[in-house]
Amino acid sequence: MRLKNKTAIVTGSSQGIGRAIALRFAGEGANVVINYNRNPQGAEEALREIEAAGGSGLIVQADLGKLADIKKLIAAAIEHFGRVDILVNNAGLETHAPFWEVSEEDYDKVLNVNLKGVFSTTQEFVRHLMLDNNHGRKGKVVNISSVHEELPFPNFSAYCASKGGLKMLTRNLAVELGSMGININNIAPGAVETPINSKLLNDPMKLGALLNQIPLGRLGQPADVSGLAVFLSSDDADYVTGATYYVDGGLTWNYQEQ
Ligand code: BGC
Repeated sequence: MRLKNKTAIVTGSSQGIGRAIALRFAGEGANVVINYNRNPQGAEEALREIEAAGGSGLIVQADLGKLADIKKLIAAAIEHFGRVDILVNNAGLETHAPFWEVSEEDYDKVLNVNLKGVFSTTQEFVRHLMLDNNHGRKGKVVNISSVHEELPFPNFSAYCASKGGLKMLTRNLAVELGSMGININNIAPGAVETPINSKLLNDPMKLGALLNQIPLGRLGQPADVSGLAVFLSSDDADYVTGATYYVDGGLTWNYQEQ
């Protein structure tokens, strides 16, 4: 049990990578705050699985694009579990359009959750740890970024801008928060089979072309990401901060946009 006696918030954990992380964390002994925006059923299922395995969880609805919701999420977690040790900023979205057709609404939607949401949620988490500082508490932040914090992804300009921003935010906070015992790292998944890319998964031509670019020859599964999230949230990663870890089957070094 690598996360025993820890409490973790996993944003966007009603489905996909977030849900796999929530379940895996519970298996490692953590109390888990499951957050969803529009999928209460997925959140309920995740909680049932956690409880069936003897774990403890709490569901909180919050739209990470709204500061008031973020404050509500952190406050609910503290009220229920007394404290929070780990924050996984997983919630994210993407929209597809050529650059010249991206609407202001879509740009705001993507940036508000993927970048401003991570900024503000981390800020609230850090403020919580600071208040409790005399107990010598350490904190771990894990951001679910993307290979597109580094690689261009035509027709996803707002998404790439958000993930590129997340890369720098992590580096900056590693420096700014290090002396407080707070570690922050990014996980950069490649093509993982989750609802975020359901369009791609249902397009055999595009999927085939993408698979040809993945040296390990398959899409990732959410469980391929969750083990690394455990490591980065555990004491084993006490000397790791400001880094990005790729979980992409080798895609980054073999990527050509079609
Ligand atoms: C995106 C997916 C995409 C993958 C690989 C992810 O960040 O969410 O839509 O398939 O990167 O390009």
